[in-house]
Amino acid sequence: ADVCARVGDILDAHGGMEGPLLPILHAVQDAFGHVPMAALPVIADRLNLSRAEVHGVVSFYHDFRSQPHGRHVLKLCRAEACQSMGGDQVADRARALLGIDWHQTTPDGAVTLEPVFCLGLCACAPAALVDGRVVGRVDQARLDSLLDEVRA
Ligand code: FES
Repeated sequence: ADVCARVGDILDAHGGMEGPLLPILHAVQDAFGHVPMAALPVIADRLNLSRAEVHGVVSFYHDFRSQPHGRHVLKLCRAEACQSMGGDQVADRARALLGIDWHQTTPDGAVTLEPVFCLGLCACAPAALVDGRVVGRVDQARLDSLLDEVRA
């Protein structure tokens, strides 16, 4: 359906809430997988905010994406236990091989790279999530095979 109509429904559902911008943005993102640019003026008008204000909130919170995810999402743990087990090198390698930084998607739309902060898998550090599947002990070799998998 068209973005404005669906965003209108989401706005209606949040009409009575106080400080509704964040829950609205979350609901929009849940509905679309990202916050489409076309949604911003609709939300701004309804909440009596400027588009710049809404845009500022979307860009401030890394939770919100203004572009759709890639076909695969690779999340690498950036928290302490994983860092101490070589997570930084794995992360650097992932960024170099994919040619993208955190929160970005490869130009072919195959892979989005996201940081996460502790997956509760510290005993198997460094840890990763590949399309929601947990993977432990991600050394360089395992990273390379994960990248082969998501780029195939
Ligand atoms: Fe990475 Fe806990 S610090 S899983």
